[in-house]
Amino acid sequence: MAKKLQYVCTACAASSPKWAGQCDACGAWNSIVEEKPLSEGSSSKSIGSKRGGQVELTDLSTNEAPPPRTMSGMEELDRVLGGGLVPSSAILVGGDPGIGKSTVLLQAAAQFASQGLKTIYISGEEASAQVRMRAQRLGLKDAPVKLGAETNLRNILTTLEAEKPQLAIIDSIQTMWVDTVDSAPGSVSQVRAAAHELTSFAKRKGVSVILVGHVTKDGQIAGPRVVEHMVDTVLYFEGERGHQFRILRAVKNRFGPADEIGVFEMTGAGLQEVRNPSALFLSERGEPSPGSVVFSGIEGTRPVLVEFQALVAPSPHSQPRRTVVGWDSSRLAMILAVLEARVGIPFAGLDVYLNVAGGIKVTEPAADLAVAAALLSAREDAALPKDTVVFGEISLSGALRSVSQTENRLKEAQKLGFSTAIMPKGDKAPSTAGLTAKRYDDLTAFVGDIFGAG
Ligand code: TYD
Ligand code: MG
Repeated sequence: MAKKLQYVCTACAASSPKWAGQCDACGAWNSIVEEKPLSEGSSSKSIGSKRGGQVELTDLSTNEAPPPRTMSGMEELDRVLGGGLVPSSAILVGGDPGIGKSTVLLQAAAQFASQGLKTIYISGEEASAQVRMRAQRLGLKDAPVKLGAETNLRNILTTLEAEKPQLAIIDSIQTMWVDTVDSAPGSVSQVRAAAHELTSFAKRKGVSVILVGHVTKDGQIAGPRVVEHMVDTVLYFEGERGHQFRILRAVKNRFGPADEIGVFEMTGAGLQEVRNPSALFLSERGEPSPGSVVFSGIEGTRPVLVEFQALVAPSPHSQPRRTVVGWDSSRLAMILAVLEARVGIPFAGLDVYLNVAGGIKVTEPAADLAVAAALLSAREDAALPKDTVVFGEISLSGALRSVSQTENRLKEAQKLGFSTAIMPKGDKAPSTAGLTAKRYDDLTAFVGDIFGAG
């Protein structure tokens, strides 16, 4: 039988019979590479009539206590994990190269180890001496972590089996190499096979494994999305290179809420936890200025205040610019359309820039009203009243829809010294003393009251 070639997307692992510049499945460009099929002919054959063993079935009820979790003592990390590390869990930590994954995991390894968890850190990227030097710089040289530098997965599994650790950190999954797979390290099949071996090892032997996965731009090596479905928990480490803030975000968690975030600050001595992110994100805010609006948001279970900044200027281009950092650009387009169609405020011929200060990404629709307020404030060149926070979802009709966790948003605002909240009428007025609420039914009423137009 002639050997069929197969093409695989390194971003999402979708396979296709022919090469294309853009992946149909995930839309990534230049991410499709040629790969050998795993074993020839096996994929298309049906399972046939040969009998298998019978699977043992059980009831749903259980008397088993939930497994004890281990707290690292790094509160920001423990919360993102859903309340500490679950035994025999497989965790993926993804992020851009150089964002600080190795740093945070070395710190976490040291913390878990000093809580009495037997911890092994395997680096496939750096020599042991390099990791030791980093540990020394981070003040962790006395932590009882065992270190290894290896890329051959067979050797790693043998070592783990002999050493019997409770936690193994593999930095990174793209450098691992499985000798039964006939392609280069970092290819989709290698990454997939290595992750499969490690996660099934975790379940079999009761070891928790943390895999590091680099997010890749050019499609030469497989990205962490290729293994997301295999692990219990997926964390992404985000941040802008130019900013010192780093956010650890749970995007999938079988043992806790997703969307939880942990906030860290990159310093000369490693990553420091940020216990009060609102204060940090607002720290560089001066006097009220046009285009600046504070949004009272919820990240996971925690309220976080962030500043939206907008700039609106006459455009020299025939197609005006819409540039967004830290928010969803299609959501911005929607709000511009609602402002124009429902309130009669056009943005045609104007460039619009929207930025979330501090390098954090906001995904909540509850930020709609804050975005609209920032856009109008910039367009009218009029600052919002001092000490005001804004939240509320905007529907296509221009009505303001209530949002979740109003009480938490208001409490956080009050804690940080805000005195006024602009919010949807559908949400309960604050019971918090010292905070006045301005509540509106729709966008037109809000614009009329605050900007005296509409
Ligand atoms: P690293 O953890 O190696 O990133 P990753 O594993 O995600 O590729 O982090 C590298 C960056 O972090 C590097 O640019 C230097 C910076 N850094 C600090 O600012 N302070 C520190 O204490 C350490 C260890 C690193
Ligand atoms: Mg690294």
